[in-house]
Amino acid sequence: MSTHADVWYVFPSAIRNPELLDGYRAILSDDEISRYERFWFDRDRHLHLVAWALVRTMLSSYADVSPEAWEFRTNRHGRPEISGPASTTALRFNLSHTRGLIACIVAPELDVGVDVEDRRRDTSGPAIASRFFSAREVAALERLPGDEQSATFFEYWTLKEAYIKAIGVGISLGLGRFSFELDDRGLRVDDPARRPPTISFDGLDDDPATWQFAQFEPTPHHAMAVAIRRGDAENLEIRLREVVPRLDDR
Ligand SMILES: CC(C)(COP(=O)(O)OP(=O)(O)OC[C@H]1O[C@@H](n2cnc3c(N)ncnc32)[C@H](O)[C@@H]1OP(=O)(O)O)[C@@H](O)C(=O)NCCC(=O)NCCS
Repeated sequence: MSTHADVWYVFPSAIRNPELLDGYRAILSDDEISRYERFWFDRDRHLHLVAWALVRTMLSSYADVSPEAWEFRTNRHGRPEISGPASTTALRFNLSHTRGLIACIVAPELDVGVDVEDRRRDTSGPAIASRFFSAREVAALERLPGDEQSATFFEYWTLKEAYIKAIGVGISLGLGRFSFELDDRGLRVDDPARRPPTISFDGLDDDPATWQFAQFEPTPHHAMAVAIRRGDAENLEIRLREVVPRLDDR
C-alpha cells in the first residue's frame, strides 16, 4: 500500500514553447485531440492540451510506459480511469483545471480526488452555499466576518468537489449529504499548526475515519483541496510539486 500521494501542478500560461506544445499534441489520443479541436476558445484548448499532457507524462514517471501509450476509460459518471497497459491499472489519478492552474493527483490503489478553483471567479458564493452546502457548513460560513466568507466558501467548495471526485460520482450525489469541518483559528491553509479538515456524513454510507484531506494555496488566488481514501493506513505524505510536463520525464 502506498505511503504517499503526489500532487503535480502546472501554470498553463507559462507553457508557450511551440515545440513543446507540438510534442504534447503528439502524445494525446485521438479522442483527446478531438476534444481539443472542439474547444471554441484558445484558452480552453490550451488548458485541455496541457492538462492531458500533464496526466500522461506524470503517469509515465510511475511506470515503464511511454506517455502516448496510456489508455483510459471513463466510469459511468465521467471520471477518467486507467484501463491500460494492463499491468498499470492499480495506479489512480484525478485531474482538475481552472483559469491559470491545472493539478493532477496520483497514488497507487487509492481513491483520490483533487479540485482547484480560481477565487477571483464570480460565483455568488452565499447563494451557492445556501443551495448546495450542508446546513452546518452554511451556519459556519455565516458566523464568519463578511470579508472572510468568500475565501472560506472556496475552501468548502474545493473540499466537497475533491471528495465527490475521489468517490467518482458527480455532484448529483448531493453536496448537502456530507459536511466539512475546518480549523476555525484563522490560520493559513499551509500553516503546519492548522488541523486538517474532517468530514461527516448525513445519510451516506461512508466512514470519516478512512479519509484524509489536505488543502493548498499554490497562488494567492487559487484554492486547492485533495481527498484520499486511505482506509485504515496511517496518514499519507502528500507531496506537492510544480512541474512543466516534459516529454522526456521517464
Ligand atoms: C467533474 C465534476 C465533479 C467537477 O468538475 P469541475 O470542478 O467543474 O472541474 P475540474 O476541473 O475540477 O475537474 C474536471 C476533471 O475531472 C475529471 N472528472 C470528470 N468527471 C469526473 C467524476 N465524475 N469524478 C471524478 N473526476 C471526474 C475529468 O478528468 C475532468 O477533466 P477533463 O474534462 O479534462 O477530462 C463535475 O462533474 C461537476 O459536477 N461539476 C460541477 C461543478 C459545480 O457546479 N460545483 C458546485 C460546487 S458547490
